[in-house]
Amino acid sequence: MTKSVIYACSHRRGGNSDRTATLLAQGVAEAGGEANVLYIRNHSVMACLACDYCAKAKFKQGMARCVLGQQDDAYELFEPMLTARTVFFTSPIYFYHLPSLFKTWIDRSQQFWAAKQLGEPWVADLPKRTAHVVLHAGRPAGDKLFEGAQVTLKYFLNNFNFTLAEPLIFRGIDEQNDMEAHPDFEQQIIELGRTAWASAQ
Ligand SMILES: Cc1cc2nc3c(=O)[nH]c(=O)nc-3n(C[C@H](O)[C@H](O)[C@H](O)COP(=O)(O)O)c2cc1C
Repeated sequence: MTKSVIYACSHRRGGNSDRTATLLAQGVAEAGGEANVLYIRNHSVMACLACDYCAKAKFKQGMARCVLGQQDDAYELFEPMLTARTVFFTSPIYFYHLPSLFKTWIDRSQQFWAAKQLGEPWVADLPKRTAHVVLHAGRPAGDKLFEGAQVTLKYFLNNFNFTLAEPLIFRGIDEQNDMEAHPDFEQQIIELGRTAWASAQ
């Protein structure tokens, strides 16, 4: 487990989540680590068919665990979740939740949920690790703005034995370059990259 991975989950190229991904990578590099940035929008991911194949295909691993495994990039995106020392997600809030492309990919992790439920060691015995999330929302207020995203992420990450650290959240970030107008926010993100890498086992 030598690397970290940063999943940039916005549909908008060059926006706030992308900027955050760059800053997290900078922080990881400053702490002596290595980070790959993966842009979810650049990958083709089909919706889970809810066919229950993964629950019945006991001990099948990798692409073979899902009927769609050979047909799209979902598994390629999951692979680093099995091997990375730590992972980061940077995402906007869309309608009080995660963007649909990101959620579509999350639903495909049902194959790992099924394997873990069955106690299959290749998933159940993954090392316990910590995941980090940075969320951006356009609205300046709203008590429940980040609630749905956080609950979903917590249980998604649990499939891979990741615990979700307290998310870094930014409100009132709406226009494409809004993060860049807040050097204080940017410093917090770089610092997160540094400390997350330094504290990862
Ligand atoms: C489809 C869509 C839905 C959105 N829904 C919300 C919302 O429910 N609450 C909110 O505060 N901002 C909402 N926003 C604004 C984004 O969260 C905001 O513009 C964010 O900075 C975008 O991040 P990005 O630059 O990484 O794409 C929405 C934006 C889009 C495109």
